[in-house]
Amino acid sequence: MNILVTGATGFIGGRLAEALVKEGHQVRGLARQTSDTSLLKTLDIEIINGDIRDAAAMKKAVGDCQCVYHLAAKTTKDRLSKKQYYAHNVEGTKNVAQAALNAGVNRLVYASTIGVYGTVRNSSIDENAEPNPDSYYRETKLGGEKEVCRLHRDSGLSLVVARLGSVYGPGSCNWLDVCRKILEGNFRIIGAGENPDHMVYVDDLVEGLRRCGDVKGVEGRTYIITGPEPAKLRQVLEIIADELGADTALDSLPVTPFRVYQRLCGLVYRSFGIQLPRCHYYDLFLMSHIFTTTKAQEELGYFPNVSLRDGFRRLLGWYREKGYLPSVEEVQG
Ligand SMILES: NC(=O)c1ccc[n+]([C@@H]2O[C@H](COP(=O)([O-])OP(=O)(O)OC[C@H]3O[C@@H](n4cnc5c(N)ncnc54)[C@H](OP(=O)(O)O)[C@@H]3O)[C@@H](O)[C@H]2O)c1
Repeated sequence: MNILVTGATGFIGGRLAEALVKEGHQVRGLARQTSDTSLLKTLDIEIINGDIRDAAAMKKAVGDCQCVYHLAAKTTKDRLSKKQYYAHNVEGTKNVAQAALNAGVNRLVYASTIGVYGTVRNSSIDENAEPNPDSYYRETKLGGEKEVCRLHRDSGLSLVVARLGSVYGPGSCNWLDVCRKILEGNFRIIGAGENPDHMVYVDDLVEGLRRCGDVKGVEGRTYIITGPEPAKLRQVLEIIADELGADTALDSLPVTPFRVYQRLCGLVYRSFGIQLPRCHYYDLFLMSHIFTTTKAQEELGYFPNVSLRDGFRRLLGWYREKGYLPSVEEVQG
């Protein structure tokens, strides 16, 4: 199959493109003039230049592809204005979906996020839970969902929406700062670390995306794609500290001021549509999410199996291989 991956120069898209090539597909990876294409150049991939905000470029990029995985987006780390997020995540998605529709693809998979549910939910969330986005990123990812669903409903675009959990694994430096601070002995948990989150290892996630692209008879559906089970933050940090060979006893800071600020962010966002600075900054400590992935299990046959221990061991191995982490001996001088 000819497959286009947008966001192929990013963390998840790169790993997905690699997996698709290994399966024998003809893969085309979207890149921009400024993108780092070094990983893609090591793979048997056609690199096509274009920006998702450019409708004509998307028409050319989709070309004769039978399947499109749309992962290109501006994410929380980009810190843009609402207008800029909208241009990439809503308008850009609309361009990709329209090009996919015009080309008559067999399937468009849109990578959305569990962030559309907001930061805190105290009950288990499934696909029927009402979205409640509380930032520009989350709102525009939901806006992207609305655009692709509209083309499915009105024009018959063959679509699956995947709401991805927090993804970790080689290729992402999201946990690097935490690891360094744990090694240096100056990491502090905000609160007791009792907040659950439900993360997914990148290779499990790629398998979930693949199934969203492959399984027949699920057009127009939405799936939560995340890891085998939720875990409390403290448990995750203890696994990391243990794997690093560092002290697993971590000090805490009081959570109340951060929680108050988070509530204020949510209130201001929902009342005035304005995002306060650093609204995502403490998500690690404040995020409270448990998902059920029953629908993906039953309808897609998706059974993630990488445990947190194995996943973080592989991630830390990658950090060491890249020379990103000092050894315990170096830190202790
Ligand atoms: N990582 C997570 O934990 C997570 C969780 C939930 C959902 N997601 C979703 O998964 C997708 C991939 O996330 P990621 O973590 O892999 O992100 P990432 O590493 O930041 O990659 C983003 C990709 O999008 C591309 N891109 C951004 N704007 C573009 C534009 N205007 N035109 C063309 N390409 C553009 C980037 O290209 P450049 O290389 O040129 O910058 C890059 O390839 C996103 O849609 C995100 O919302 C991620």
